[in-house]
Amino acid sequence: MKDQNSLQEAFRQVAYPVIGHGKSNLQILMDSLKDMDGNIVSDRYGKGQVIEEFQEKIADYLGKETAVFFPSGTMAQQIALRIWCDERGINKVAYHPLCHLEIHEQDGLKELHKIETLLLADENRIIQLEDVCGIKGDVACLLLELPQRELGGKSPDFHTLELISKYCLEKGIKLHLDGARLFEALPYYQKSASEICALFDSVYVSFYKGIGGIAGAILAGDNLFTEKSKIWKRRYGGDLISLYPYIVSANYYFNQRINKMTTYYEGAKELAAQINNCPLVNTEPSQPVSNMFHIYFGEPREIIEPILVEVYEATGVGITGNLIDKNGKCCCEVWIGDRYEHIPKEKLEAAFQMLGEKLQEYTFL
Ligand SMILES: Cc1ncc(COP(=O)(O)O)c(C=O)c1O
Repeated sequence: MKDQNSLQEAFRQVAYPVIGHGKSNLQILMDSLKDMDGNIVSDRYGKGQVIEEFQEKIADYLGKETAVFFPSGTMAQQIALRIWCDERGINKVAYHPLCHLEIHEQDGLKELHKIETLLLADENRIIQLEDVCGIKGDVACLLLELPQRELGGKSPDFHTLELISKYCLEKGIKLHLDGARLFEALPYYQKSASEICALFDSVYVSFYKGIGGIAGAILAGDNLFTEKSKIWKRRYGGDLISLYPYIVSANYYFNQRINKMTTYYEGAKELAAQINNCPLVNTEPSQPVSNMFHIYFGEPREIIEPILVEVYEATGVGITGNLIDKNGKCCCEVWIGDRYEHIPKEKLEAAFQMLGEKLQEYTFL
C-alpha cells in the first residue's frame, strides 16, 4: 500500500496540480524584481519610499488611515490584540477556537502577553451574532477571521458582520479582522475591501496567500493604533533594517492578482461542484465562499491515498499532496490560484470521472 510520501511524490510529478499559483521557488522573487530600478534606495528601519508608498497604497485600498508592513501576520496580530487590551485595560480577547492564534502560534499571545482568551462558537461552525451577544464579562477585543480557513473558508454574511460590528461598537469591544484571505473573499461579499474593513477597528492582510508574494503582512487602522504597532514591531525584532524583498514582491503580485480574485472564486465553485458529483466525497462548504474549500473523503487515509495516486498517475491531474486524518476519515484543503485556469477541462473531467469510479468500486468490494 502506498504511503503519505508516495502521495506527495505523485502530486509533485503531476502535469496539472489543481492547487495554487505555481512552484514555490526563487523565481517568485526574481520575477518581482525584473522590472525594478536598481537605484531605488532600500527601506531602513521602517522608513523610506519603498515601504512608505506601499503602506499608503494598502491603507488606501483597505480604507484605513494608516498601515504598517510586518514580516508576518503572526507578529502583527499578537501586537494588535495587545494594543487593544492595553487601551481598554482588559486582559482578555475573544476569538474562534480554530483561529490561527489559538492553534498555530505556540500560544504566543498567552505566553508573551499573558492575555486570556474566550473561545466563541465551536470547531464545527463560525461565530454568529448570538455568540458575540452571549459574551459574559469584559473582553477588550473580538477577532474575526474572514474567511475562516480551518472551516474551509466559511464566512458570515455581510449583514451579520454589520450587526456584530454595531454590537461591538455599542459595548466598547474593539473588532479586529484576521483578513489573511480577505482579498480572496471579496467576490463573495460583492463589497470593496474598504466597505468590509470599515466594520473593523484594525485589520491584518497577508501578501503570500492568494496574492502569492514571499511573505509579509499589513496591519492597518487609525494613526494612534498604527504608531503603537510600530513600537511593538521594534520590540518584537520585526523592524528589520530592510524589508524590501518582501515589499517589492508583495506589491508586484498584489498588482498582478488583486483583480483575479473573481476568477479564482469562480474556479473554486466550479471545481467544488465537480467534486460533489463524485460518490463518497463532499466539499465544505458545499458551495465555496472564497477561492478555498475542504474536501472530505468518506474513507480513511489508507484507503484514499492509493486511489488518489492512481488517479494522478493515470490522468496527470493532482488535487493534493496532503491528506489529513479526520474522525476516522480524511480531508484536504484546496485553494484556487493561477494554475487552475490552465488545466484543460477534459483533463479535469477525466480525473474526477476516474476518482468517482474508483471510489464506487471500493464501496462495492
Ligand atoms: C488565518 C491566518 N491568520 C494568520 C496567519 C499568520 O500569517 P503569517 O504566516 O504571516 O504569520 C495565517 C497563516 O497561515 C493564517 O492562515
